[in-house]
Amino acid sequence: MKRVAIICGGRSSEHEISCISAGGVIAAIDRSKYLPLIIGITKSGRWVHLEEDFPLRIVDGVLPVIPENSPAIVADISGFTFNGSPIEIDIVFPLLHGPYGEDGTIQGMLEMADIDYVGSGVLASAVAMDKSFAKPIFASYGIKVADGFTITAQEWNDAPDSITKQASLLSYPVFTKPARGGSSRGTNKVKSEQQLTGAINEALTFDSKVMIENAVVGAEIECAVLEIDGKPQASIVGKISIDPKFEFYDFQAKYLDGATTIELPAPIPADVAKAIQEQAVAAFKALDCRGLARVDFFLTSNNEIILNELNTMPGFTETSVFPKMWAASGVSYTEVINHLLKSATL
Ligand SMILES: Nc1ncnc2c1ncn2[C@@H]1O[C@H](COP(=O)(O)OP(=O)(O)O)[C@@H](O)[C@H]1O
Ligand SMILES: [Mg+2]
Repeated sequence: MKRVAIICGGRSSEHEISCISAGGVIAAIDRSKYLPLIIGITKSGRWVHLEEDFPLRIVDGVLPVIPENSPAIVADISGFTFNGSPIEIDIVFPLLHGPYGEDGTIQGMLEMADIDYVGSGVLASAVAMDKSFAKPIFASYGIKVADGFTITAQEWNDAPDSITKQASLLSYPVFTKPARGGSSRGTNKVKSEQQLTGAINEALTFDSKVMIENAVVGAEIECAVLEIDGKPQASIVGKISIDPKFEFYDFQAKYLDGATTIELPAPIPADVAKAIQEQAVAAFKALDCRGLARVDFFLTSNNEIILNELNTMPGFTETSVFPKMWAASGVSYTEVINHLLKSATL
């Protein structure tokens, strides 16, 4: 029996989603092999102990949040202690999304503590989190990405006119987004030069680096990569169908009930789906990912495949896209969790 610490919550804006993902894993984990234990990270960054029956799900329409007043867990390079006694942990499942979780920080801490963990290591996590680094790496492997450029707050402050000029060379509409963002927060479709300043300033409230990109016209296609017995495998490909009242796959479209569905398999030609699966695995390898990744693409009307982003810790509730894509590929949620826990110790 292995003891698995599921770490959830965290300081990022995806705190609640992380809690729901953890609730899903705790309900589905194979208890003949694994003993789960929950470690919460509060929004202020405190590490706390949670009882196994803590409701990590939506109750009466209220999203779960890790209570700030829960008893503290001490985490350091010698491992974890609770009430002064060490807690034995064999594997950590860091079910955290966004900064301080999906970005290499907790992975670095777990490396220092010499604890096995699910998912990508420090470098892959950090690179995938920062789209301004991930994009040129994908491009160098021959994977297409949207045209665009990155600016810093300092550059925007110093030379807004030249940035505005550079943006107009991409031709409108363009997309602006924080380099290290998530859940579409701070992302805007900018239809004209008049809207550029506002959009850049909004993105800058999420990160000091902003990407300005050509707006790709195409379907949003996702593919889930899972390491099975040491080999990354691609799931069947899915197409995100967004209620047309949304301009793009924004925060509302992502989390508003019923605004989005995923078509599985995507209604695209078999050879195109196969090429997307190959590119998803190639992207996984390009960043040296481990365990899992959800690779998101655009597919244009002439079947051009453009990689948008790779998520090293995608939403992981039972009804999230990643587990759904595997379920449709014949691998159940519990089996996905088993593969991940196995890959953590390889
Ligand atoms: N270059 C682009 N062209 C077209 N749509 C884009 C582009 N960049 C982002 N989007 C839209 O914004 C959404 C969120 O952007 P994304 O880069 O995936 O950030 P996040 O990490 O927040 O999911 C995408 O799913 C897509 O709908
Ligand atoms: Mg995205």
